[in-house]
Amino acid sequence: MVFYFTATGNSLYAARQLDEEQFSIPQEMKKKDRHYSADRIGIVCPLFEFDIPPIVKDFIAGSTFETSYFYLVVTFGCHYGGVALRTQEYLTSIGKKANYINTVIMHDNALIVFDMDQQRSIEESKQVDAHLAEIRADLDSRKEMIQDSPEEEVNFYEFYLKMKEEQGPMYSFPLYQVTDGCVGCGTCTRVCPGGCIRLVDGKPSYDYTRCMACMACIQACPTKAIQFASVKEPNPEARYRNPHVTLKDLIQANQQL
Ligand SMILES: Cc1cc2nc3c(=O)[nH]c(=O)nc-3n(C[C@H](O)[C@H](O)[C@H](O)COP(=O)(O)O)c2cc1C
Repeated sequence: MVFYFTATGNSLYAARQLDEEQFSIPQEMKKKDRHYSADRIGIVCPLFEFDIPPIVKDFIAGSTFETSYFYLVVTFGCHYGGVALRTQEYLTSIGKKANYINTVIMHDNALIVFDMDQQRSIEESKQVDAHLAEIRADLDSRKEMIQDSPEEEVNFYEFYLKMKEEQGPMYSFPLYQVTDGCVGCGTCTRVCPGGCIRLVDGKPSYDYTRCMACMACIQACPTKAIQFASVKEPNPEARYRNPHVTLKDLIQANQQL
């Protein structure tokens, strides 16, 4: 069994390639008693600012996994910054341990930094399916491995930390503004894994205390009426969803309200 968290479908697509039965972390989080038992148990999630998302950490910390093989696969867009070693350290700090942690490069959905159309044009070069097949073979052979962190990736992570210290966070709240293009369809309310968007008078209203900045809402808006409030993004007209994943899949994975 594999548990996944996803904003734009990459991690769901990856989870489908890696294990037979996929379960959404935001849906599982609704359960009080989270005890899972299986021969092999995995977690697939995106990389957020060189770390696994807080909801994934909370899910792991608050669940018990009865298994002889526990793995994590983190999807990312350009630099993974040695996340595997840090994640194993985190697991140790909560009394858990993974047998296997790896990363897989996919389309980078960080709208603040990247033009989604430009990212689409280089997607083929990332050889996503070949990498996922390699990881699947690793899992099937129950390989023991925590991905190493080459110097280039350590440097990238340290550069990011320094930049954050000097320039402050990448974004601030309120993160979004809604333009007159909003047709009140409510798609944003349904793809939000935090349940932080409600329609008020037919327009989305955000409770930012629960926002994970996962960008599912801004990416899924069919009229591109959700825009960043203060960040100037490279291409406000380009949006992304993994081509193998439907809007219905994302709603089933994330709907809270
Ligand atoms: C808030 C945010 C932060 C991100 N941080 C990183 C990062 O540090 N490094 C990276 O390579 N990709 C980063 N990404 C890109 C995603 O990890 C990547 O596109 C991932 O495959 C998205 O998975 P999903 O479609 O399952 O949500 C970030 C994306 C978002 C939205």
